[in-house]
Amino acid sequence: MPNQATQDIMESIRKENDIVEIVSEYVQLKKQGRNYFGLCPFHSENTPSFSVNQDKQIFYCFGCKKGGNVITFMMEMEGFPFQQAVQYLAEKSGITLPTQATFQHQKENSTEDQSVLEAFQWLTKLYHHLLRHTKDGKNALYYLYDRGFTDEAIDLFQVGYSPVSKEFVVQFLEKKGFHRQVMVNAGLLTTSESQEYYDRFQGRVIFPIRNHIGKTIGFGGRSIHNQEPKYLNSPESRLFQKSKLLYNFDVARSEIRRQSEAILFEGYVDVIAAHQAGIKNGVASLGTSLTEAHASMLRRYVDTVLICYDGDSAGQEASYKAMRQLKRAGCTVKIGNLPTSYDPDQYIQEFGAEAFKSQVIKSSYSDMAFLMHYWKKDFNLQQEAERIQYVEKIVGEIARLNSPIERDHYLRELSDQFHLSYDALNQDLMSRIRKNENSYDNQKRFGNTNDGKPENKTDTNRVYRAFHNAERQLISYMLQNEHIAERVKDEIGSKFNVEQHQVIVTLLYGFYEEGNYPDPSHFLSFIDDPEIQKLVVELSMLDSNWEITEKEMDDYIRLILAEQTDYAVIKKLEQEQKEVEKSDPKKAAQIAMEILKIKQQSKKGS
Ligand code: CTP
Ligand code: MN
Repeated sequence: MPNQATQDIMESIRKENDIVEIVSEYVQLKKQGRNYFGLCPFHSENTPSFSVNQDKQIFYCFGCKKGGNVITFMMEMEGFPFQQAVQYLAEKSGITLPTQATFQHQKENSTEDQSVLEAFQWLTKLYHHLLRHTKDGKNALYYLYDRGFTDEAIDLFQVGYSPVSKEFVVQFLEKKGFHRQVMVNAGLLTTSESQEYYDRFQGRVIFPIRNHIGKTIGFGGRSIHNQEPKYLNSPESRLFQKSKLLYNFDVARSEIRRQSEAILFEGYVDVIAAHQAGIKNGVASLGTSLTEAHASMLRRYVDTVLICYDGDSAGQEASYKAMRQLKRAGCTVKIGNLPTSYDPDQYIQEFGAEAFKSQVIKSSYSDMAFLMHYWKKDFNLQQEAERIQYVEKIVGEIARLNSPIERDHYLRELSDQFHLSYDALNQDLMSRIRKNENSYDNQKRFGNTNDGKPENKTDTNRVYRAFHNAERQLISYMLQNEHIAERVKDEIGSKFNVEQHQVIVTLLYGFYEEGNYPDPSHFLSFIDDPEIQKLVVELSMLDSNWEITEKEMDDYIRLILAEQTDYAVIKKLEQEQKEVEKSDPKKAAQIAMEILKIKQQSKKGS
């Protein structure tokens, strides 16, 4: 059990970091009764089964069963070891931690990660300084000014410059005491066949890439002297995973939440240009297409994502793919209205911030309008046969819309555009909708859909035997009320029938004896075993009333004791049975019947 000093600090860390606020930085939560609900960040789902309870300061997912307190949440969410989660929360709330030795938890081997993060921090500062204040950086700085970067944005995004020198950065890192091979592993340095170490970004403008909690974990380098490739990013590493990372998410997060809308760009230059234009909810995937992980992360924060990729055909193609990915995750999607030969950065340069906001962002297309335009590329609309194929494809898509008003809107547009009879199109539409509904009914009949209910509910609905259920209920009360715990202690002590329950109540008695008040979140820090922790969270979330009646309590206790008695009796009988098995088979059979009877009776009581 943690010592007093550690406990005090942990307590203040938990007090200063309200779990609803911390979780809200990752999940859009809506209040529902006593709990908040949102989409689980730990497994993929379209209906919320992830809950947070503010009174108890715990989270629990009814789908995947993950649960814990605010510290566990940070560990799960960011993959932090315990120590780092504590440090992160302490920093966030301005609590100074004593020397690390105070923490009894084993120190995980995150030292290499720590060292890499530190090196990134140093290099970010170095590159930025070189750009800002040295002769070497002048060309790069003028290059950026020329592209419309303001000083303010250069500072905010810590843009930098890496000098044309093989050794400069190598020596810099060496002097700071960083291990060369560790730097190579993290992609900070490159090594050649002849075992030379050098800076991979020489001569490039540097865009530091921060992770979702604001730590630099990679660099993007833009060449300014026509080197190839134009953009060079840090290689993938354990800390830098492009498939999960969105550029600028840490800064944009609060604005994204406020507007419940995110704007998705192709790269950092567009994000920064948009930021300068006053659009602060922009993020970007880093030269890769949008992944399922990106989409479901965005979905946890927002309902709507506006895709603002290049206006050319490659950009349209990428928009289409990103749109599919986002729709699958359950987002509403809009597509920015960029003219063909522009990317957002160029557009802002040429037409200014106001035009970008009103003509591109505010005049965005709905996903349907985008599709109607996008699919034209696949058909020669001059030919009647292909025109009809196109129209049918669009009607099929319209049939998937839920809102009758929207369906009517696009159907009219289609009828106007191609001079087709609205009624005929509508008939086609209706028959498609009926077809879709039928196949939906079939799915339902065969149990293929979850019908909007939280997934994986089976375990939650598990039927427990009566004594088992009694123990669960009783513990859930004991976690809320030390007097109930006291009373149970007098009557049953730790002799619960389920082994895990024995562990929990033993720890709980100790917890109360030390003068702690009921507080599931606090109690969790007294438990080392993750399985037991999980069970405590689950039991804390049982929907019990605040008040338990005497009768209810007596019933639970009686059931638990009865199971014990039965258990003891059966054990004794089994022993006897074994003893007479050879000498007196008839007697042994009688005993067997007796055992069976007791077992059946105890089941009936269940
Ligand atoms: N990008 C990236 N990695 C790559 C290629 C591109 O991260 N290997 C990102 C960059 O952030 C870049 C964005 O994708 O800003 C768009 O790439 P591209 O269209 O190639 O950039 P351009 O608009 O042509 O580049 P620039 O505006 O700098 O001329
Ligand atoms: Mn560009």
